[in-house]
Amino acid sequence: MTVLALVALFASFADAKWIGEDLPAGIKAVAEKNCPVMRRTFVAAKPVRSARLTVTGLGFFEVEINGRKIGDQVLTPAACDFAHRCYYYEWDATSAVREGTNEVRITLAPGYSDDFFQYGWRRVAEYPKRAKLSLSLTHADGTEDDVNTDGSWEYSAKSPISSASIYGGERYDAGFDGWRWQPVKVLDDFDRQEIVNRVPDLWREPKGPPELRRYDGAPVRAYDFRRPKGVTKLRDGVFVVDAGINRAGALRIRAKGRRGDVIALFYAEDRDPKSGDIDQRTNRTKEPIRDVFTLAGTGEWESYAPRFTYHGFRFVRVEGYPGELTTDDVESFAIGADVATTGAFECSDPFLNQFHAAAVTSMRSNFMSYPTDCPMRDERTPCQLDSQVYEETAMMNFDMNAFYRKWLDDIDLGGIGGKMCADWMGDGIVLPWRHYFFYADKAVLEKNYPFAKAKMERLLALYPSGVITDGFGDWCVPNDGAKGYLSAFGFVEEVNTALFAYAAECLAKSAAELGKTDDAARWREAFGRIRDAYNAKFFADGAYEGGRQTPTALAFAFGLVRPENRASAYRAMVGRIRGADRGKFTVGIWGLRTLGETLADGGDGELMLSMMKGPEYPSFGYMFDNFDATSLWEQWHPYGEMNTHNHAMMAGGEHWLYTRILGIRLLAPGGRKVEVRPVAPASIAWARGHVTVPAGRISVDWRRENGRLVVNATAADGIELEVVK
Ligand code: BGC
Repeated sequence: MTVLALVALFASFADAKWIGEDLPAGIKAVAEKNCPVMRRTFVAAKPVRSARLTVTGLGFFEVEINGRKIGDQVLTPAACDFAHRCYYYEWDATSAVREGTNEVRITLAPGYSDDFFQYGWRRVAEYPKRAKLSLSLTHADGTEDDVNTDGSWEYSAKSPISSASIYGGERYDAGFDGWRWQPVKVLDDFDRQEIVNRVPDLWREPKGPPELRRYDGAPVRAYDFRRPKGVTKLRDGVFVVDAGINRAGALRIRAKGRRGDVIALFYAEDRDPKSGDIDQRTNRTKEPIRDVFTLAGTGEWESYAPRFTYHGFRFVRVEGYPGELTTDDVESFAIGADVATTGAFECSDPFLNQFHAAAVTSMRSNFMSYPTDCPMRDERTPCQLDSQVYEETAMMNFDMNAFYRKWLDDIDLGGIGGKMCADWMGDGIVLPWRHYFFYADKAVLEKNYPFAKAKMERLLALYPSGVITDGFGDWCVPNDGAKGYLSAFGFVEEVNTALFAYAAECLAKSAAELGKTDDAARWREAFGRIRDAYNAKFFADGAYEGGRQTPTALAFAFGLVRPENRASAYRAMVGRIRGADRGKFTVGIWGLRTLGETLADGGDGELMLSMMKGPEYPSFGYMFDNFDATSLWEQWHPYGEMNTHNHAMMAGGEHWLYTRILGIRLLAPGGRKVEVRPVAPASIAWARGHVTVPAGRISVDWRRENGRLVVNATAADGIELEVVK
């Protein structure tokens, strides 16, 4: 596209009007769960060479031309702080447009609306659902034409989708015939903001209407369609589908029946082992989560999958199915940021392969247009704490470049509220460095440095002693849930102080890389001070809190241990694990993240592996063997009020599989310098895998021969590789 054409395209999008619902005054727009449709026809008088669609909307929108959906993304627009920003999309629509009469339709849905949890970004409550679209046609003879949203469009408040909700599901009637077309309402420009749940002092007050920005985050798609593992009949018309995998997504179903037959799909992570019916407790919603499909009764197969919601599930109870449901009639699919898989891990131990697969599933299930805490519960909110624990692991497994760039833009607006401490808020300090270290994009580091610095200043002012006394800490330590969410806190000061030191170190490295030497010295000094505070508070008699797992692992992983204390601190921890801890985990998400590497470095990877395997509680073996888990849980314990079976936080515990079992250690930004040094548990006979950095792949393949590791490692050109045996 020439520059001139680009300018013209943008001009037409700027000219397009916001159009949408005409709601009576006083009605709260977000409370309306209907999915209106707006349409217009247009005539392409000459053959069309290309058609380019530029579009945005709020809540969700989808565009069809002549009945064909344009673009391959779902749940658009991407979520963000809507007071500041609204993402638009550019899609090629050439194959859908024909010479002659065409119809373009926009379906709107509530999206992130009033029923979305308080810690998420909700669209503005008073704002009607709306869209703004420009279709730019280039004819075969080079002439151009635009079709823009304006007052000539028609609008119907009712459509085949009678309601949609992010949590509650969708209701769809294939035989819908209740269109009531009327002129569309041309809306004011998008000029007001709703302000909820912002970071005190750090939230940036929007200066005007939200910015319209082209979405360049990871595309959110429906992908990986799979036949289910099985279908069981509960009674006539009622079946339970076992998708075989617990993940974020939905079910597509087909049926042949009569007009008005209603099929309801109830989604759940679990199944009651006694009755075989689904168990929806982890959804934690008042109303059971379900999609409802009413048949048109065409006499042919009719199929349905929801478009404006998603679920975290493995099992689906299908009610009202006409006939016998079989595995041929259903497919499950994933919904989320469709990031490319760029890493691989495999070894001789099937348990670790199973753990790797579950970690991958849980991470993918929580990549929407932002990292969520979980996909099934009445939350699904942007979560810095959860993300911070497993970002490095995610980058080993997937191409997270665009995803985290967009997430940093979200964080930078200060629009994710919560506690002012290192675990809950520190992601804005550490992720710019992590992103740079993996993808070597200095512009991203530069852009995010000021906000990272502001956060650090704030933490230093709040906690001059260096010890942070607030936060979630080693969230989800083993607990029986008796005290509800309060049971899940652990080692609050230890985790937050260690992460504070780590954040100072990340910031020092960021500043140095950006040539800000004074800043770098300041943050290095802060690191030293916080490290000393950690040791003064938590180290005594040669051990961190008597050798407890979390405080010791944190100290080793974040470089807080004084050289002269290393041996005793390590010995105390291993002694305690084998003694008082009876070979079991006492860790939550941060202890788990840091323990694997710490034990492997000390030559005790086998001990880590045996704690992971269990099979008693708390362990992953416990989840896999007793509950057939295919994803990682929120807590070690299956039951309670905050016990989902698909949080991504524990995926942080996968990092050592890459860095220690495969032994891939990145030593310089962009992975330009890499050391391969496996330190693997003795029971593992072989391992192979790879990670991908901007210059290309680093692959490792080793096996044990006569007790020694024979390591074969390769790296793409431009990567300096050293293999240490
Ligand atoms: C949410 C969890 C989340 C945790 C830590 C809680 O408020 O309910 O889903 O994992 O915060 O971020």
